[in-house]
Formats: sequence, structure tokens, C-alpha cells
Amino acid sequence: MKINGQHYRSVWPIGEDACGIIDQARLPHELVTLTLRTADDAARVIKDMNTRGAPLIGAVGAYGLALAMRSDPSDENLTRMHDMLAETRPTAINLRWAVGRMRDALLNRPCTERAALAWKEAAAIADEDVAMSMSIGEHGLKIIRELSQKKKGAKLNILTHCNAGWLATVDYGTALAPIYMAHDAGIPLHVWVDETRPRNQGASLTAFELGSHGVAHTILADNAGGHYMQDGQVDMVIVGTDRVTANGDVANKIGTYLKALAAKDNNVPFYVALPSSTIDWTMASGRDIPIEERSADEVLKMRGRTENGSLVTVEIAAPGSPAANPGFDVTPARLVTGLITERGTCAASIEGLRSLFPKAQ
Ligand code: MRU
Repeated sequence: MKINGQHYRSVWPIGEDACGIIDQARLPHELVTLTLRTADDAARVIKDMNTRGAPLIGAVGAYGLALAMRSDPSDENLTRMHDMLAETRPTAINLRWAVGRMRDALLNRPCTERAALAWKEAAAIADEDVAMSMSIGEHGLKIIRELSQKKKGAKLNILTHCNAGWLATVDYGTALAPIYMAHDAGIPLHVWVDETRPRNQGASLTAFELGSHGVAHTILADNAGGHYMQDGQVDMVIVGTDRVTANGDVANKIGTYLKALAAKDNNVPFYVALPSSTIDWTMASGRDIPIEERSADEVLKMRGRTENGSLVTVEIAAPGSPAANPGFDVTPARLVTGLITERGTCAASIEGLRSLFPKAQ
């Protein structure tokens, strides 16, 4: 990703005893980086969503475990830090996948070698995430190209929900990778960006990314997408995901399900883009996915910049009213046109997933 002409990844090593992240809680108003030196630092930024997005929290969790190995590489600390990091956010499977892969790579190795091995493994997880995002981009580009040809090159309108771009991954993104590639290939397109209440990852992060890359886009109130679909102004939906179960059900940011229903009703293709680290082969269907319940404050208050430039949090609800705040919902596989993965696009079903990943456990 390039911000103001400078290349960034969303997480990067600093020497061999720290790593850096972009503080996503301060975007789009301020570009601030944070340095993580301990596993506790990594856990805190994941929990508080200074870093977020399913593939990215996997990579940051991996670096967190690598940082833990520098101070205490014992079996006991490895297990304790693994469990502590895995617990920080419940819905995205990538986090458990990444810290589980780290633990497996280290458990039977001598303690004296663990710090160096852990650093390499975390870097490999980050590099592989970038490679998977690029492949997802290429496979998604084929779909966008076909739709663009059907429209005889007229501007393609794509709707996305939440943020599944560079900022949600180590680089490029999942849902946004095909959009960047199509834009770079000269395909005329425009993106409808759901604001994505309550934390507004669409309005603040996706819009920031698309703007930095020069992609035409418009932010929509979350409730407006169905109207534009009825009006023929949405040609396709692409979203990311935090967990896909073996039958092709998709957990993603709250509100995704309603967009999938509206897309089905209006014959708009609804695609989900994901790296294979997002597939939970152990879970048969989306009914069992743990849905993160977040603080009511995220619904009752809002953060923004005032005219004089200061960042403030304001109350927006009737004083004393309670609020519920599920972070994610599950879109049933029957509403999904296709899953775009690093190995190609498949049907959202056990057969579809198996056709691309025959050996996955
Ligand atoms: O709660 P967040 O912001 O960490 O949510 C995760 C997401 O970014 C979205 O659900 C996204 O669409 C999937 S992650 C590529």
C-alpha cells in the first residue's frame, strides 16, 4: 500500500525485537504508527482495534507470539501466550490459525532456537498473506473484467461493506484487491462504500484507502445499499470475511447478511473474498461461529473531528438507553454467488471448497 507516496505494510518487523503497525483507530484523521515490543502490546492493540481485520490480526498475533519468545521461550510461556493472544477476539479464525501455526512450529524445537524460529515464522505468515491477497486480486479481476465486458465497458458499480483492503490484511486486501487491480487495469468502476456502523470501518478506512489509490467511490449510509440495488445501480457486491465454515457459510462484519439478502432479491452477484487461512474446516456450519459482542459505547457514542481539528467523542443516543452490539453476522452459503480465494473462485459449499483445497484438514 502507498500512503502519501510512501510504501507501507499494515504490520512490519523493526529489527528482531519489535514490530510496527498503523494505528487504525486514528485513521482517517491522523496517520500514526505504533511500536509493539511484547505479546501484551500485541494483545492490547488487537483487543482495542488499533489493528484489525481478520488476516491482519492473524499476522499481528503471530508477531506477538514471536515477541513473547524473545523474553521467555519456555513451553509454559509458549502455551500461555498462545492462549492469551487467541482469546483477544473470538470471531475471526485467522487469529487462531496463525498463533496455532506458530505454536506447532515451535513446540518440538529447542528453547534456545525458538526466538529466531518464531521471528522467521511470523515473517512467513505475513509474506504468505501478501501473496494470497495478490492471487485473490487476480482471480477477482477476472470476474470484474467479465462483468465489465457485459456492460460493454460502461462504469461498473461495486458495493462493499466494512474494510477488507490493505488495512485489514498485511497488504493489498481481500475484497479490495480485485478492485485495485481492475482500477489499475483501466476498467472503469465506482465503489459504493457502506459506512459500516457502529465503528465506521467503511467511511473511515475503506474510503481512505480507495481515495489514496485514486479509486472513484461514494460513502453510503448502511441502509441505502438495498435502494441502489433496486435502482439498478449496483452491478456486484464483494465483501471480505472473518470465518467461512466448511459448508460455505460466511461470518463478516454486522450488516453483511442484510446486503446479501438485498443482493439476492435484486439478482446482484454477491462475492466473498478470502485467503484460505479464513476457512474453518472444523466447523460444519455458520450456526456455531462465536459472534463477538462489543461494547455498547460503540453504538451510543461516536468519534469524529470537529471543525477546529480536534478529535472528540460525542454521545448520540437518548441518555440511559441500553444498546446491543454484535460485531458480526452470518450470511448463509445459499446467498453467496462465489468464494474468491487465492486458488480461484468456487461455489460456497463443501464441494466447492474441496474442489480448490482437496487436502485441507
Ligand atoms: O471488527 P473488524 O474491523 O476487525 O472486522 C473485521 C473486518 O474487517 C471485516 O469483517 C472484513 O470484512 C473481513 S476481514 C478482511
